[in-house]
Amino acid sequence: MEALRHLISPGDLSRAETDRILDLADEIIAAPDEYSAKCRGKKIATLFYEPSTRTRLSFEAAMLELGGGVLGFSSADSSSATKGESVADTVRTVENFADIIAIRHPKEGAAAVAARYAAIPVINAGDGGHLHPTQTLTDLLTIRSLRAHHSLDGFTIGLCGDLMFGRTVHSLVKALMERDGVRFVLISPKELRLPAYLLDELRERAIPFEEVEHLDAVMPSLDVLYMTRVQKERFFNEQDYVRLRDSYILDAEKMRLAKEDMMVLHPLPRVNEIAAEVDADARAAYFKQMWYGKYARMALILALLGLCPVLGQPA
Ligand code: NCD
Repeated sequence: MEALRHLISPGDLSRAETDRILDLADEIIAAPDEYSAKCRGKKIATLFYEPSTRTRLSFEAAMLELGGGVLGFSSADSSSATKGESVADTVRTVENFADIIAIRHPKEGAAAVAARYAAIPVINAGDGGHLHPTQTLTDLLTIRSLRAHHSLDGFTIGLCGDLMFGRTVHSLVKALMERDGVRFVLISPKELRLPAYLLDELRERAIPFEEVEHLDAVMPSLDVLYMTRVQKERFFNEQDYVRLRDSYILDAEKMRLAKEDMMVLHPLPRVNEIAAEVDADARAAYFKQMWYGKYARMALILALLGLCPVLGQPA
């Protein structure tokens, strides 16, 4: 019997395992019909205690396209959480009805708690301002697919906006630290810098990075620009949010400073940080990124359910 595997942090997958999941996503894209019945009789439970459009629907679409079923809730209000039930008890309930869980929760560490109690695989679909590893699989698949040499090594990525509360940023930085020759340009207001634990890790591992406050000057050096939303829901006071929310606005004028083949990514939703005029730029990849997200999640579901042999023993 294979060991139970979860995806709570990008580090739960080795670099080789991550690559095999991305390869499997490529195979599904190339021949979706071959995978359309792989999850027949299986169900995913999406337990979303926080708002979501893309993540929840792409998990559900992923399972449906694999021939499986979906159940779940899309707000804490409609679950027994409002009655005071713990995450631990909720997963011990849901494991009776489903084969795999995707959980999103406003508290950091909630997905790890779920995994500790669950007898079925648990996927962290975002835990507070901490991590979001399936967005990272999406981002890696997008970068690898759209880069000239289909490689995840040797490029410069600019991460711009709310680096402090942005869980997609934390996860992506963790995953890209495992690659060779990735250089980080961290673009944020002083108040929204990348958390110290990640800066320390970059320093300890001697990974090249710089922290800057302005986008224009670094624009020409970037191969990938990862824009993010200022995470309103994680602020303690409204005034700080209002002061910082429009710190960076990517528009056509700024895009003129960028390389001809720079890729613009954004986990979405966007608010003001990318002007609508950028959507028509061939370098804007954020809509395509969502498309890749479904295939990344299909591959992950197959991997964690042990239906495609891509995972080794836990690290
Ligand atoms: C992100 C999230 O929820 O962390 N959205 C997503 O899952 N694609 C980013 C965000 O909300 O800004």
